[in-house]
Amino acid sequence: MEIRPRRLRNSKIMRGMVRETRMSADSLIYPIFLEEGSGIKAPIPSLDGQFRYSPDMVGYAVEQALKQGVNKLLLFGIPKEKDPVGSGAYAENGIVQQGLRAIREKYPETLLITDVCMCEYTSHGHCGILCGHEVDNDATLPYLTKIAVSHAQAGADMVAPSDMMDGRIAALRAGLDENGFSNIPIMSYAVKYASSFYGPFRDAAGSAPSFGDRKSYQMDYHNAKEAMKEAELDTAEGADILMVKPAMSYLDIVHALAERTDLPVAAYSVSGEYAMIKAAGRLGLADEYGMMCESTVAVFRAGANILISYFAGEIAQAIKKGDIG
Ligand code: PBG
Repeated sequence: MEIRPRRLRNSKIMRGMVRETRMSADSLIYPIFLEEGSGIKAPIPSLDGQFRYSPDMVGYAVEQALKQGVNKLLLFGIPKEKDPVGSGAYAENGIVQQGLRAIREKYPETLLITDVCMCEYTSHGHCGILCGHEVDNDATLPYLTKIAVSHAQAGADMVAPSDMMDGRIAALRAGLDENGFSNIPIMSYAVKYASSFYGPFRDAAGSAPSFGDRKSYQMDYHNAKEAMKEAELDTAEGADILMVKPAMSYLDIVHALAERTDLPVAAYSVSGEYAMIKAAGRLGLADEYGMMCESTVAVFRAGANILISYFAGEIAQAIKKGDIG
């Protein structure tokens, strides 16, 4: 008797039956960039196919996402003015707060998640309050808390802190609870590496640090055990969802975390991953759609439950067509 694995690969219908990884558009989150002002739909040069929208124009992006089958959005803000403490991030009429209200009013069926960080709002581009040239961890926590509470007040369904300060999940949880938002979950960027793959995002959001780098707060990519430590701390502090970021170069971490935690695991396929696939496709080096499909399935195969991707709409369509999932 010969064992022939090819028997189960004979036809599309057969392959569809024995697939080990199943996906759903319900698990996809689409990031949107909001820019202060009006009448803005500005293409982002480093992220081919992505735009920055003013609150009055963001409906275009939301409607397209909904049409494609994606109803979960992760909101980033680009303010007009920046200052050393990033006060635009927690202003009652800040850009994310404006965007939240605009989207909430017109599209109540969406789940709105906000990125809680300061780097787009600080004049120095770091993710916290500076003390000299260092980011002061504990001085930053009250600011992050104010940002999260103001997002909740403006209608966020979930907050996602991406700053990588120690103790921020506990601080945010306490702040949200004290202000009547004990029902708002926290998706923690628990395992966030200091990565070159954020390059296009920093260009899109104008959030590159004006000096130095983020290595004193984001993780060293040589470390895997430390990822488990970060995840355990955030779990103990009250995180509801744990995120690994970036995705493609960190699938070992996604897998290890998924095996270990009882919380949902999210992976963020970041700007550099998207830009790389787009560029290779444009140059004719490889098939864009195929690479998108393959890298998406890899994230879920590794054990992620949720994927954040600039391709979210296209992925939802690929799932619907049965090309993946
Ligand atoms: C803010 C933040 C960044 C990203 C998400 N939130 C940039 C950074 O840490 O420099 C990156 C997202 C992407 O590259 O798609 N701190």
